[in-house]
Amino acid sequence: MKKVTVSTLFKRKAAGEKLVMCTAYDAIQSRICMAAGIDFMLVGDSVGMTQLGYDNTLPVTMQDMLAHTAAVRRGAPEAFIVFDMPFMSYQESDADAMHNAGIALKTTGADAVKLEGGAEYAPLVKKMTGAGIPVMGHIGLMPQRVQVAGGYKVVGRDEAGAEMVLRDALALQEAGAFAIVLECIPEALGEKVTQALDIPTIGIGSGKSCSGQVQVITDLLGMMDFKPRHAKRYAEVGSIMTEALKSYADEVRNGSFPTAENSFQ
Ligand code: KIV
Repeated sequence: MKKVTVSTLFKRKAAGEKLVMCTAYDAIQSRICMAAGIDFMLVGDSVGMTQLGYDNTLPVTMQDMLAHTAAVRRGAPEAFIVFDMPFMSYQESDADAMHNAGIALKTTGADAVKLEGGAEYAPLVKKMTGAGIPVMGHIGLMPQRVQVAGGYKVVGRDEAGAEMVLRDALALQEAGAFAIVLECIPEALGEKVTQALDIPTIGIGSGKSCSGQVQVITDLLGMMDFKPRHAKRYAEVGSIMTEALKSYADEVRNGSFPTAENSFQ
């Protein structure tokens, strides 16, 4: 399969094709995403909740992200993979941010990094893109700021909030971001921002007018109890796994597994 690049994403957007992005956290998931025709993958810091058992994304470290992203790359050598910069890997100083983004690209094989933040991060995004690091922005609901926001809330319902989202999107585009995640903003604002930008918008809970959509793989597959409104469950993989493991446990206990077929003479 041909390697997907930033220019592939631009071409698809220009051709009016919706872009499909999904999170992946390990080699098996990335292989399955590729087989399913997902355009590009995000190794999200949502790994904190979906794989590592944390309540939010804040405890996720660079080490966590490096290990998971390298695994995703091993499962999908041709995929376009975005490395999500974890909390406090880019906020403290630009030097830190450049160092960490460089390590991410050099050691995991990721194609780009993503960071949460608007106009206040435009100078950093400019520095990164100037150094050859493709950057995806992330505005609207920013989970790394959950403590400050006082929860996970829709952003941009009022005029001032909507103006700020638009201003942030334009500043990130101007700074050289190749795409922007719009998380949980009203549908009409998602449309307005998408129309105002040349670069693709990738929505999550921001309506169908975005250039593409991103979803968390465990939400799509029904692997956790958590059911966010912005996601649709396309399968109940969690229940399927539970049932399969119950059958295994029953069969070991009642002696019907292993059979002669599973044994060596
Ligand atoms: O970490 C993540 O999965 C994300 C998506 C929700 C966009 O940032």
